[in-house]
Amino acid sequence: MTKHNNFSSSSIGSKTLMATTGLFLIFFLVVHLCGNLQMFAGQDAVNTYAVLLKSFPKLLWSMRIALIAAFVLHIYTSIQLTIKNRAARPIAYGQNQPVRSTLASRTMLLSGLVVLAFVLFHLAHLTLGWISPEQANLIDAQGRHDVYNMTVLGFQNIYICSFYIVAQILLCLHISHGFSSSAQTLGLSAHGRCAVFLRRFGVCFALLIAILYISIPASVWLGIIPTEL
Ligand code: HEM
Repeated sequence: MTKHNNFSSSSIGSKTLMATTGLFLIFFLVVHLCGNLQMFAGQDAVNTYAVLLKSFPKLLWSMRIALIAAFVLHIYTSIQLTIKNRAARPIAYGQNQPVRSTLASRTMLLSGLVVLAFVLFHLAHLTLGWISPEQANLIDAQGRHDVYNMTVLGFQNIYICSFYIVAQILLCLHISHGFSSSAQTLGLSAHGRCAVFLRRFGVCFALLIAILYISIPASVWLGIIPTEL
């Protein structure tokens, strides 16, 4: 067994936890995206969906608690592995390093930190309504929380719109490496054609997610998604 493998096996628990929580967060991203794409269907669709979600408080809170736990564990294990990785570097380098590093794999910590900052801002902006309380407190004609107009008005601010777009580009970079890396940690082949397929699939999947997420603020900015006040 090489020194590199020694490092890997001592960290297998952390890696498995990071991979599982990462895949769970990707699952949330897909579900959240499906809900968000209703912005193209207009105010009624979005506000009806928001009311529907809140009519299942137990499900909503279970998902929120699972999300918070996944975020905390994902960040904790990433810090733990980064520290171990740096400590192991002097002996691991110059030995057996067959894996080509990519921009995405080299910038995982940076892209992860930007995504974390984005999520904290996003929660303050659209969930807690701290950034623009007057937009967060809007009510539609049927007396429902006006999530549609809150989101459109938010993205009409060029700084907020740009931050969302930049954050989605970094999120794309993060999950393009994270997806295939998690799948390999959890036992999918790390060799040959399967590994190449997994890497390409991860990149295409991340690009698709990012393009669809970006389409929302970009469409607001281009006037394709207007306010319905
Ligand atoms: C264009 C992109 C996005 C839009 C339009 C959007 C929209 C929203 C809205 C409207 C809410 C509040 C829902 C409500 O309180 O009724 C929300 C909550 C949330 N969003 Fe996003 N979102 C976007 C991207 C993202 C991304 C990329 C992430 C993760 C990296 C994310 C994570 C969350 C989380 C964790 C919540 C809180 C969920 C909860 O309260 O249970 N969102 N989003």
